[in-house]
Amino acid sequence: MTNISRLQSSLSESGVPALLISDITNVQWLSGFTGSSGYVVLTPTSGRFITDSRYTIQAAEEVEGLDVRSFGSPTKFTDFLSQNVSEMGVKRLGFERSITYGTWDDWKNQVGGIDWFPAPDVIKPLRMVKTAQEVAKIQAACRLADACLEHVVRLLRPGVSEYEIGLEIEFFFRRNGAEVGFAPIVASGPNSARPHAHPSERQIESGDFVTLDLGGKLDGYNSDITRTFVVGRASERQREVYDLVLRAEKACIDALVPGAKGVDVDGLARQILDEKDLAKYFGHGLGHGLGKAVHDLGGLSTRSEDIIAPGQVWTIEPGVYIEGFGGVRIEDDVHVTANGPEILTHFPKELTEIT
Ligand code: GLY
Ligand code: MN
Ligand code: MN
Repeated sequence: MTNISRLQSSLSESGVPALLISDITNVQWLSGFTGSSGYVVLTPTSGRFITDSRYTIQAAEEVEGLDVRSFGSPTKFTDFLSQNVSEMGVKRLGFERSITYGTWDDWKNQVGGIDWFPAPDVIKPLRMVKTAQEVAKIQAACRLADACLEHVVRLLRPGVSEYEIGLEIEFFFRRNGAEVGFAPIVASGPNSARPHAHPSERQIESGDFVTLDLGGKLDGYNSDITRTFVVGRASERQREVYDLVLRAEKACIDALVPGAKGVDVDGLARQILDEKDLAKYFGHGLGHGLGKAVHDLGGLSTRSEDIIAPGQVWTIEPGVYIEGFGGVRIEDDVHVTANGPEILTHFPKELTEIT
Protein backbone atom coordinates (compact mmCIF):
# COMPACT_ATOMS: atom_id res chain seq x y z
CA MET A 1 0.00 0.00 0.00
CA THR A 2 1.39 3.41 -0.89
CA ASN A 3 1.35 6.38 1.46
CA ILE A 4 -1.21 7.99 -0.89
CA SER A 5 -3.67 5.11 -0.60
CA ARG A 6 -3.08 4.90 3.17
CA LEU A 7 -3.93 8.59 3.52
CA GLN A 8 -6.94 8.33 1.22
CA SER A 9 -8.39 5.55 3.41
CA SER A 10 -7.77 7.66 6.45
CA LEU A 11 -9.52 10.68 4.87
CA SER A 12 -12.57 8.51 4.20
CA GLU A 13 -12.57 7.12 7.75
CA SER A 14 -12.19 10.59 9.30
CA GLY A 15 -14.84 12.22 7.10
CA VAL A 16 -12.35 14.66 5.55
CA PRO A 17 -13.62 15.32 1.98
CA ALA A 18 -10.38 16.98 0.80
CA LEU A 19 -7.06 18.00 2.33
CA LEU A 20 -4.50 20.56 1.21
CA ILE A 21 -1.10 19.27 2.29
CA SER A 22 1.38 22.12 2.52
CA ASP A 23 3.96 20.97 5.07
CA ILE A 24 6.85 20.16 2.74
CA THR A 25 7.96 17.11 4.71
CA ASN A 26 4.43 15.72 4.52
CA VAL A 27 4.33 16.53 0.81
CA GLN A 28 7.63 14.71 0.23
CA TRP A 29 6.53 11.73 2.31
CA LEU A 30 3.32 11.44 0.33
CA SER A 31 4.51 12.10 -3.19
CA GLY A 32 8.19 11.15 -3.48
CA PHE A 33 9.00 14.72 -4.54
CA THR A 34 12.38 15.92 -3.25
CA GLY A 35 12.17 19.63 -4.13
CA SER A 36 11.48 22.38 -1.66
CA SER A 37 8.13 23.74 -2.87
CA GLY A 38 5.04 21.69 -3.60
CA TYR A 39 1.47 21.08 -2.42
CA VAL A 40 -0.94 18.19 -2.65
CA VAL A 41 -4.72 18.39 -2.83
CA LEU A 42 -5.99 14.95 -1.89
CA THR A 43 -9.51 13.56 -1.79
CA PRO A 44 -10.44 9.94 -1.01
CA THR A 45 -10.45 9.19 -4.75
CA SER A 46 -8.17 11.72 -6.47
CA GLY A 47 -5.10 13.82 -5.96
CA ARG A 48 -3.14 16.62 -7.56
CA PHE A 49 0.43 17.67 -6.95
CA ILE A 50 0.94 21.39 -7.48
CA THR A 51 4.28 23.08 -7.94
CA ASP A 52 5.79 25.99 -9.81
CA SER A 53 7.90 26.14 -12.95
CA ARG A 54 11.17 25.69 -11.07
CA TYR A 55 10.14 22.10 -10.44
CA THR A 56 8.03 21.13 -13.45
CA ILE A 57 10.53 18.63 -14.88
CA GLN A 58 11.61 17.27 -11.51
CA ALA A 59 8.03 16.74 -10.33
CA ALA A 60 7.14 14.87 -13.53
CA GLU A 61 10.07 12.52 -12.86
CA GLU A 62 9.59 12.01 -9.13
CA VAL A 63 5.91 12.20 -8.26
CA GLU A 64 3.97 8.97 -8.44
CA GLY A 65 0.23 8.41 -8.08
CA LEU A 66 -0.85 12.05 -8.37
CA ASP A 67 -1.64 14.33 -11.32
CA VAL A 68 1.15 16.87 -11.55
CA ARG A 69 0.24 20.49 -12.36
CA SER A 70 2.62 23.42 -12.39
CA PHE A 71 2.30 27.13 -12.91
CA GLY A 72 4.58 30.05 -13.71
CA SER A 73 4.53 33.85 -13.94
CA PRO A 74 2.27 35.74 -14.07
CA THR A 75 -0.05 33.16 -12.41
CA LYS A 76 -0.23 33.37 -8.61
CA PHE A 77 -0.28 30.25 -6.42
CA THR A 78 -3.66 31.09 -4.89
CA ASP A 79 -5.28 31.57 -8.32
CA PHE A 80 -3.79 28.29 -9.53
CA LEU A 81 -4.99 26.52 -6.38
CA SER A 82 -8.52 27.93 -6.89
CA GLN A 83 -8.55 26.65 -10.45
CA ASN A 84 -7.36 23.16 -9.46
CA VAL A 85 -9.70 22.64 -6.52
CA SER A 86 -12.57 23.83 -8.66
CA GLU A 87 -11.62 21.36 -11.45
CA MET A 88 -11.47 18.60 -8.82
CA GLY A 89 -14.96 19.48 -7.60
CA VAL A 90 -13.74 20.27 -4.09
CA LYS A 91 -16.07 22.43 -1.99
CA ARG A 92 -14.80 21.80 1.55
CA LEU A 93 -11.03 21.81 1.96
CA GLY A 94 -9.09 21.02 5.13
CA PHE A 95 -5.80 22.77 5.84
CA GLU A 96 -2.95 21.64 8.06
CA ARG A 97 -2.76 23.39 11.41
CA SER A 98 0.95 24.03 10.90
CA ILE A 99 0.34 26.85 8.39
CA THR A 100 1.14 30.38 9.51
CA TYR A 101 -1.48 33.00 10.27
CA GLY A 102 -0.31 34.94 7.20
CA THR A 103 -0.84 31.95 4.92
CA TRP A 104 -4.26 31.30 6.37
CA ASP A 105 -5.20 34.96 5.86
CA ASP A 106 -4.10 34.81 2.20
CA TRP A 107 -5.86 31.54 1.43
CA LYS A 108 -9.16 32.48 3.00
CA ASN A 109 -9.20 35.84 1.19
CA GLN A 110 -7.78 34.75 -2.15
CA VAL A 111 -9.14 31.25 -2.74
CA GLY A 112 -12.83 31.93 -3.23
CA GLY A 113 -15.81 29.61 -3.07
CA ILE A 114 -14.16 27.17 -0.66
CA ASP A 115 -15.33 26.18 2.77
CA TRP A 116 -11.99 25.97 4.61
CA PHE A 117 -11.60 24.05 7.86
CA PRO A 118 -8.66 23.03 10.10
CA ALA A 119 -8.18 19.32 9.40
CA PRO A 120 -7.53 16.73 12.12
CA ASP A 121 -3.94 15.47 12.05
CA VAL A 122 -4.55 12.43 9.89
CA ILE A 123 -0.96 12.32 8.67
CA LYS A 124 0.92 11.92 11.96
CA PRO A 125 -0.27 8.39 12.83
CA LEU A 126 0.47 7.27 9.26
CA ARG A 127 3.90 8.89 9.03
CA MET A 128 4.88 7.34 12.37
CA VAL A 129 4.39 3.85 10.95
CA LYS A 130 6.89 3.37 8.16
CA THR A 131 6.38 1.22 5.08
CA ALA A 132 8.90 -1.56 4.43
CA GLN A 133 10.46 0.65 1.75
CA GLU A 134 10.89 3.51 4.18
CA VAL A 135 12.47 1.24 6.79
CA ALA A 136 14.92 -0.03 4.15
CA LYS A 137 15.93 3.56 3.38
CA ILE A 138 16.43 4.41 7.06
CA GLN A 139 18.46 1.22 7.40
CA ALA A 140 20.74 2.30 4.54
CA ALA A 141 21.18 5.73 6.16
CA CYS A 142 22.04 3.98 9.44
CA ARG A 143 24.68 1.84 7.74
CA LEU A 144 26.28 4.98 6.42
CA ALA A 145 26.23 6.59 9.88
CA ASP A 146 27.96 3.52 11.33
CA ALA A 147 30.60 3.77 8.60
CA CYS A 148 31.04 7.48 9.29
CA LEU A 149 31.72 6.78 12.96
CA GLU A 150 34.22 4.07 12.02
CA HIS A 151 35.96 6.61 9.81
CA VAL A 152 36.12 9.53 12.23
CA VAL A 153 36.85 7.62 15.41
CA ARG A 154 40.32 6.99 13.99
CA LEU A 155 40.94 10.73 13.99
CA LEU A 156 40.22 11.23 17.70
CA ARG A 157 43.39 12.08 19.57
CA PRO A 158 44.76 14.86 21.78
CA GLY A 159 45.39 18.04 19.82
CA VAL A 160 42.69 17.54 17.16
CA SER A 161 40.03 20.25 17.20
CA GLU A 162 36.30 19.66 17.31
CA TYR A 163 36.03 21.65 14.05
CA GLU A 164 38.27 19.21 12.20
CA ILE A 165 36.24 16.22 13.33
CA GLY A 166 32.97 17.98 12.46
CA LEU A 167 34.20 18.82 8.99
CA GLU A 168 35.38 15.27 8.40
CA ILE A 169 31.92 13.97 9.34
CA GLU A 170 30.33 16.33 6.81
CA PHE A 171 32.84 15.37 4.08
CA PHE A 172 32.19 11.69 4.74
CA PHE A 173 28.46 11.97 4.16
CA ARG A 174 28.82 14.19 1.11
CA ARG A 175 31.52 11.98 -0.39
CA ASN A 176 29.20 8.99 -0.04
CA GLY A 177 26.27 10.53 -1.85
CA ALA A 178 24.33 11.53 1.25
CA GLU A 179 23.29 14.85 2.68
CA VAL A 180 24.39 15.88 6.16
CA GLY A 181 21.20 15.18 8.11
CA PHE A 182 21.94 17.81 10.75
CA ALA A 183 24.95 19.82 11.92
CA PRO A 184 27.10 17.15 13.59
CA ILE A 185 27.80 17.48 17.28
CA VAL A 186 31.41 17.10 18.36
CA ALA A 187 31.65 17.90 22.06
CA SER A 188 34.88 17.32 23.98
CA GLY A 189 35.78 17.62 27.65
CA PRO A 190 33.55 20.16 29.44
CA ASN A 191 31.67 20.81 26.17
CA SER A 192 30.24 17.29 26.36
CA ALA A 193 27.98 18.60 29.17
CA ARG A 194 26.16 20.62 26.48
CA PRO A 195 23.73 18.20 24.81
CA HIS A 196 23.61 20.22 21.58
CA ALA A 197 27.11 21.67 21.48
CA HIS A 198 28.41 22.97 18.16
CA PRO A 199 31.92 21.94 17.17
CA SER A 200 34.37 24.58 18.41
CA GLU A 201 38.07 25.30 18.04
CA ARG A 202 38.68 23.41 21.29
CA GLN A 203 41.37 20.76 20.92
CA ILE A 204 40.77 17.33 22.41
CA GLU A 205 42.76 16.63 25.58
CA SER A 206 43.71 13.35 27.20
CA GLY A 207 41.05 12.33 29.72
CA ASP A 208 38.20 13.96 27.76
CA PHE A 209 34.83 12.53 27.10
CA VAL A 210 34.16 13.14 23.39
CA THR A 211 30.56 12.90 22.21
CA LEU A 212 29.88 12.51 18.48
CA ASP A 213 26.27 12.83 17.32
CA LEU A 214 25.83 12.51 13.57
CA GLY A 215 23.51 11.37 10.84
CA GLY A 216 23.21 11.34 7.09
CA LYS A 217 20.17 11.71 4.87
CA LEU A 218 20.18 9.13 2.11
CA ASP A 219 17.42 8.93 -0.48
CA GLY A 220 15.29 11.24 1.67
CA TYR A 221 15.59 9.30 4.94
CA ASN A 222 17.72 9.97 8.02
CA SER A 223 19.92 8.26 10.54
CA ASP A 224 20.88 9.69 13.94
CA ILE A 225 23.55 8.05 16.10
CA THR A 226 25.53 9.19 19.13
CA ARG A 227 28.56 7.64 20.74
CA THR A 228 30.67 8.98 23.60
CA PHE A 229 34.34 7.98 23.84
CA VAL A 230 37.07 8.62 26.36
CA VAL A 231 40.32 9.83 24.85
CA GLY A 232 43.02 8.38 27.13
CA ARG A 233 42.10 6.45 30.24
CA ALA A 234 38.63 6.71 31.77
CA SER A 235 38.37 7.81 35.39
CA GLU A 236 36.29 5.79 37.80
CA ARG A 237 33.57 8.47 37.74
CA GLN A 238 33.53 8.53 33.93
CA ARG A 239 33.14 4.78 33.87
CA GLU A 240 30.36 4.88 36.45
CA VAL A 241 28.37 7.49 34.51
CA TYR A 242 28.99 5.80 31.18
CA ASP A 243 27.97 2.36 32.39
CA LEU A 244 24.69 3.60 33.81
CA VAL A 245 23.77 5.54 30.65
CA LEU A 246 24.57 2.44 28.62
CA ARG A 247 22.46 0.24 30.88
CA ALA A 248 19.55 2.69 30.56
CA GLU A 249 19.95 2.79 26.79
CA LYS A 250 19.92 -0.98 26.40
CA ALA A 251 16.96 -1.42 28.75
CA CYS A 252 14.93 1.20 26.90
CA ILE A 253 15.65 -0.43 23.55
CA ASP A 254 14.42 -3.75 24.96
CA ALA A 255 11.28 -1.94 26.19
CA LEU A 256 10.35 -0.78 22.66
CA VAL A 257 7.70 -3.41 22.12
CA PRO A 258 4.25 -2.99 20.58
CA GLY A 259 1.76 -1.64 23.11
CA ALA A 260 4.33 0.01 25.41
CA LYS A 261 3.65 3.63 26.32
CA GLY A 262 6.20 6.24 25.26
CA VAL A 263 5.99 7.86 28.67
CA ASP A 264 6.87 4.56 30.38
CA VAL A 265 9.88 3.88 28.14
CA ASP A 266 11.17 7.37 28.96
CA GLY A 267 10.45 6.75 32.65
CA LEU A 268 12.49 3.54 32.58
CA ALA A 269 15.61 5.52 31.60
CA ARG A 270 15.01 7.96 34.46
CA GLN A 271 14.45 5.12 36.92
CA ILE A 272 17.75 3.45 35.99
CA LEU A 273 19.72 6.72 36.06
CA ASP A 274 18.23 7.44 39.46
CA GLU A 275 19.98 4.41 40.91
CA LYS A 276 23.02 6.70 41.14
CA ASP A 277 21.10 9.98 41.44
CA LEU A 278 21.89 10.86 37.80
CA ALA A 279 18.34 11.35 36.44
CA LYS A 280 18.50 15.01 37.49
CA TYR A 281 21.20 15.47 34.81
CA PHE A 282 18.98 14.06 32.04
CA GLY A 283 16.98 17.08 30.91
CA HIS A 284 15.76 16.11 27.46
CA GLY A 285 13.41 13.43 26.19
CA LEU A 286 14.56 9.85 25.67
CA GLY A 287 14.01 9.80 21.92
CA HIS A 288 12.05 10.83 18.88
CA GLY A 289 10.61 9.38 15.71
CA LEU A 290 13.06 9.11 12.83
CA GLY A 291 12.34 9.15 9.12
CA LYS A 292 11.92 11.89 6.54
CA ALA A 293 12.87 14.33 9.28
CA VAL A 294 15.60 13.73 11.84
CA HIS A 295 13.16 14.80 14.52
CA ASP A 296 10.28 13.00 12.88
CA LEU A 297 6.80 12.74 14.37
CA GLY A 298 6.44 11.19 17.80
CA GLY A 299 8.38 11.63 21.01
CA LEU A 300 9.46 9.58 24.01
CA SER A 301 9.40 11.91 26.99
CA THR A 302 7.72 12.62 30.30
CA ARG A 303 4.84 14.14 28.28
CA SER A 304 4.60 11.48 25.57
CA GLU A 305 1.16 10.23 24.61
CA ASP A 306 2.52 7.93 21.90
CA ILE A 307 2.02 4.18 21.97
CA ILE A 308 4.75 1.97 20.53
CA ALA A 309 3.60 0.09 17.42
CA PRO A 310 5.15 -2.12 14.73
CA GLY A 311 6.65 -0.13 11.86
CA GLN A 312 7.69 2.84 13.97
CA VAL A 313 11.33 3.90 14.03
CA TRP A 314 12.61 5.61 17.18
CA THR A 315 15.85 6.97 18.49
CA ILE A 316 16.78 5.96 22.03
CA GLU A 317 19.23 8.48 23.45
CA PRO A 318 19.54 8.85 27.19
CA GLY A 319 22.23 11.24 28.40
CA VAL A 320 23.79 12.59 31.56
CA TYR A 321 25.28 16.08 31.40
CA ILE A 322 27.19 17.42 34.39
CA GLU A 323 28.48 20.96 34.07
CA GLY A 324 32.22 21.13 34.66
CA PHE A 325 32.59 17.35 34.47
CA GLY A 326 31.24 16.44 31.04
CA GLY A 327 28.51 14.34 29.58
CA VAL A 328 27.63 11.01 28.04
CA ARG A 329 24.93 10.32 25.47
CA ILE A 330 24.44 7.03 23.66
CA GLU A 331 21.94 6.96 20.81
CA ASP A 332 20.70 4.21 18.53
CA ASP A 333 17.95 3.97 15.93
CA VAL A 334 15.41 1.22 16.48
CA HIS A 335 12.69 -0.27 14.28
CA VAL A 336 9.75 -1.69 16.21
CA THR A 337 8.53 -5.04 14.89
CA ALA A 338 5.83 -7.44 16.05
CA ASN A 339 8.67 -9.64 17.29
CA GLY A 340 10.38 -6.87 19.24
CA PRO A 341 12.94 -4.15 18.64
CA GLU A 342 15.32 -4.30 15.68
CA ILE A 343 18.38 -2.09 16.19
CA LEU A 344 19.40 -0.36 12.95
CA THR A 345 22.65 1.26 14.11
CA HIS A 346 25.42 -1.12 15.00
CA PHE A 347 28.53 0.83 15.98
CA PRO A 348 29.93 -0.76 19.21
CA LYS A 349 28.86 0.99 22.39
CA GLU A 350 30.85 -0.54 25.22
CA LEU A 351 33.06 2.16 26.75
CA THR A 352 35.99 2.75 24.40
CA GLU A 353 39.21 4.31 25.65
CA ILE A 354 41.14 5.78 22.74
CA THR A 355 44.80 5.46 23.59
N1 GLY B 1 21.03 14.95 16.74
C1 GLY B 1 20.02 15.47 17.56
C2 GLY B 1 19.35 14.45 18.30
O1 GLY B 1 19.95 13.43 18.59
O2 GLY B 1 18.20 14.50 18.57
MN1 MN C 1 21.47 12.56 17.53
MN1 MN D 1 18.28 12.06 18.09
